[in-house]
Amino acid sequence: MKTTIVEVGKFVGQEVTIGAWVANKRSSGKIAFLQLRDGTGFIQGVVVKAEVDEAIFQKAKSITQETSIYVSGIVREDERSPFGFELGVTGIKVIAESVDYPITPKEHGTEFLMDHRHLWLRSKRQHAVMKIRNEIIRATYEFFNKEGFVKVDPPILTGSAPEGTSELFHTKYFDEDAYLSQSGQLYMEAAAMALGKVFSFGPTFRAEKSKTRRHLIEFWMIEPEMAFYEFEDNLSVQEAYVSYIVQSVLKNCALELNTLGRDISKLEQIKAPFPRITYDDAITFLHEKGFTEIKWGDDFGAPHETAIAESYDKPVFITHYPTSLKPFYMQPDADREEVVLCADLIAPEGYGEIIGGSERIHDMELLKQRLDQHELDSDAYKWYLELREYGSVPHSGFGLGLERTVAWISGVEHVRETIPFPRLLNRLYP
Ligand code: 4AD
Ligand code: MG
Repeated sequence: MKTTIVEVGKFVGQEVTIGAWVANKRSSGKIAFLQLRDGTGFIQGVVVKAEVDEAIFQKAKSITQETSIYVSGIVREDERSPFGFELGVTGIKVIAESVDYPITPKEHGTEFLMDHRHLWLRSKRQHAVMKIRNEIIRATYEFFNKEGFVKVDPPILTGSAPEGTSELFHTKYFDEDAYLSQSGQLYMEAAAMALGKVFSFGPTFRAEKSKTRRHLIEFWMIEPEMAFYEFEDNLSVQEAYVSYIVQSVLKNCALELNTLGRDISKLEQIKAPFPRITYDDAITFLHEKGFTEIKWGDDFGAPHETAIAESYDKPVFITHYPTSLKPFYMQPDADREEVVLCADLIAPEGYGEIIGGSERIHDMELLKQRLDQHELDSDAYKWYLELREYGSVPHSGFGLGLERTVAWISGVEHVRETIPFPRLLNRLYP
């Protein structure tokens, strides 16, 4: 019976054949252990000299790392393995040999691994991270579909700059100037006026000269946008959504979390509601914690965010930032013009901001003023302004950075391991 590793539990006591690669091997005079992987999972194959043809045993002993094979064997339950099964090998057919595979079981430096990202992806740890990423994407679609959202795909080539003009990737669009999208938000606002509740999921680009464990040049964002939703409604969607993806990963990726050594007790606590702190209170808190240099009007850096997050065991919303720190489209607080109805969601354990969101300005005159203040060309935003001309309504939305969220849930230190082929400040290869 031809099957895959993830399915072997259905064939206990039976002989199966699996197309696999040899991830690793250990052998002695009498027995060989093959660590096998097939993309769906990892299983140990045991080759006992006394139980197989001598030719098969010799093949197992001499087989090299990443050789591809069809392996046959009897499926056995195995309590010692986290996967629960092993294969008593009865036959090996080599498909293609692999000679001098560069990534050996010894330790390699990060740059070396990044240069071999196309192969590094095969490792057990990277496999686990990619499976968790996939589960977050799956749960995202499930959550928003259940909640009555419509998936809308904004363009990647754009003429506008929602998050400020300093971090844009410029390109020519025939005779015009164009930019790679840094956020689909403005288009999602148009979509929300057509479809009510919408979400997008796509790549976004930031020409940011940041080289931190939280920054990618190309990253994937989930951007929901909701007509008639005000500030508080927006936060409710965010906490329900983040709780949903964490609980989905706990339920469906137990093996992967185990492979990564993730402390799941920390994830089990992630349930709505999430705590909130205003920017003002955050400043006071930071002063008390000894960050005496920060003053009202300054943006938070990673150490500030981490200090705030450490007081909670759930993600925390920091709300009502100074208007001067945030993009042009955010709705000012009616009682306090100097702050906006926004929130950043800060993940626990030092993973930083995973969501940025706000209520949007729906008043035409105010929006025009804000474009002027930000020195943005209102011609490029003509269509965006028209959303306020024809039946404008209060609306809100947010963007969740997928890679930071994967890093946090997986417990992986750096976002470079959370996307298949990271684009970093000094890296476009492979
Ligand atoms: O806070 P940001 O810039 O917000 C927006 O783009 C809004 N237009 C979203 C919206 O309201 N529809 O980005 C949102 C999130 C951040 O919280 C962070 O998780 C992630 O995107 N992010 C990055 N992730 C990796 N590398 C970068 N350079 C990132 N920049 C932002
Ligand atoms: Mg932000």
